[in-house]
Amino acid sequence: MKTSLAALFIVLLVDSGLLAGENIAAKRASAYAGRGYELLTTKPYLPPDFDQATFDELWKTWEEPLRSQAEKATPQERTMLAYSRYGLTVAPGDSSLKPQQYVVDEAGNWTMNCLACHQGKVAGKVVVGLPNSLLALQTLTEEIRATKLRLGKPLTRMDVGSTIIPLGTSNGTTNAVIFGVALMANRDAKLNVLPSLVPAKMTHHDHDAPAWWNFKKKQRLYSDGFAVKDPRPLMQFMLIPENGPDKFKEWEADFRELYTWLESLEPPAYPFEVDRPLARHGEVIFNQNCADCHGRYGAEPSYPNKIVSIEEVGTDPVRLAALSPQHRAAYGASWFGHFGEEKTIDDPGGYVAPPLDGIWASAPYFHNGSVPTLWHVLHPSDRPAVWQRTEDGYDQQKVGLEVTSFERLPKEVKSGRDRRRYFDTTKSGKSASGHDFPDALDEAEKRAVLEYLKTL
Ligand code: HEC
Ligand code: HEC
Repeated sequence: MKTSLAALFIVLLVDSGLLAGENIAAKRASAYAGRGYELLTTKPYLPPDFDQATFDELWKTWEEPLRSQAEKATPQERTMLAYSRYGLTVAPGDSSLKPQQYVVDEAGNWTMNCLACHQGKVAGKVVVGLPNSLLALQTLTEEIRATKLRLGKPLTRMDVGSTIIPLGTSNGTTNAVIFGVALMANRDAKLNVLPSLVPAKMTHHDHDAPAWWNFKKKQRLYSDGFAVKDPRPLMQFMLIPENGPDKFKEWEADFRELYTWLESLEPPAYPFEVDRPLARHGEVIFNQNCADCHGRYGAEPSYPNKIVSIEEVGTDPVRLAALSPQHRAAYGASWFGHFGEEKTIDDPGGYVAPPLDGIWASAPYFHNGSVPTLWHVLHPSDRPAVWQRTEDGYDQQKVGLEVTSFERLPKEVKSGRDRRRYFDTTKSGKSASGHDFPDALDEAEKRAVLEYLKTL
């Protein structure tokens, strides 16, 4: 009798979603214990980028007053200043202060990992699967290069490569798509490295990495949805010439584990206040105006994986054109696409409407990261031309990054590293226009949808 009452009680809990909530919380906590996370943070898949001694000397390249501040700081404070400058984070509770974005081995060698772009923080909190919207990869690489030259240390791939291919012109976004194009250009379908052929056509542009917790909802990958979801595409980041076809085969098992781990990630819950009745009203409006493209949430979720034509969505077209149909076809015919067995879309013609789970956390918005808050997504004609964010501020009214807006880049901003702290939507590939769908709503409806978006 007792057992069946207990069983009934559990059924009721499950029904009421109480246990489900706990399960999600437990899953979130255990994400750090997953094998995927362990591989990412302990196994280097590339040769090292620099050593500890180089990292510890970086502050000498900084501008004043930060340089003097670093000079007077304790070594630990100086490390934290460097992490803040370059967008590096430490896992909650990790007292070793190792950065999540690099594998640092016993000998003090630093090797960049996937988390460089795919692990960030929001409102000052590190969240697994959150894109790194603070990464200053170009600035870090330039300052590493200057420090190595001063210390007489040899330059590596990134130090030299970054003088030919820009790494990122706004902090928090990178030219990652073009790294892939450049690296695939001298491989055959079996990934053998060929002597340099014709240089690849490269349209440099910066992309905001997508949230990993949405991976499980997707059937196709990337902002244009051209690639079939599979462990192999995750390995493109390792295409440096030192890694031949055998390495890819050897590491494929690791990437299957990483794939499984990605599928287990959950979006973070909104940590501030929500007006529940208003959000429920917003859900109705959302389901009428947005769900055809973005899917439904809550008790019976659905996600259509829809590619919306560039004419209809009207967001920045540079990313779409930067991958040519020939490039996509060559990718599909290669080892990555199982030699043509998987149906790559060579000419997708638009962008995927992404799932909006955890959308409150993954600002800035759109594939290029051009829009700082959800309020700005909902108000197409009020989006700032130029904006600058704070590191840990969160705008609870507009729901997204705390920013200062400008009509144009302030005149005194000259050097590259200063410019990269601003997002300038007038530059190529950085337009914040388009996605005018919210204009079908009046102000009160937008307010309700904004409240609803907090709850996804
Ligand atoms: C230099 C930054 C950078 C690094 C390093 C990086 N990524 Fe990404 N990643 C991106 C960007 C940008 C995109 C979006 C590209 C697009 O949509 O065209 C992306 C897309 C993805 C996606 C597709 C997600 C989706 O929803 O479509 C997955 C999965 C992914 N990356 C996994 C990885 C893994 C695994 C690694 C390490 C082996 C890695 N990434 C390394 C920047 C990076
Ligand atoms: C016709 C299809 C369509 C409709 C309708 C639509 N969207 Fe979108 N939405 C898209 C596409 C496509 C993108 C990706 C655009 C890009 O990244 O360039 C997008 C992007 C977004 C993003 C940014 C996502 C991110 O991860 O950066 C948000 C937020 C969003 N939409 C909210 C809404 C809301 C709210 C509505 C209803 C008022 C709506 N959308 C209606 C297609 C649509």
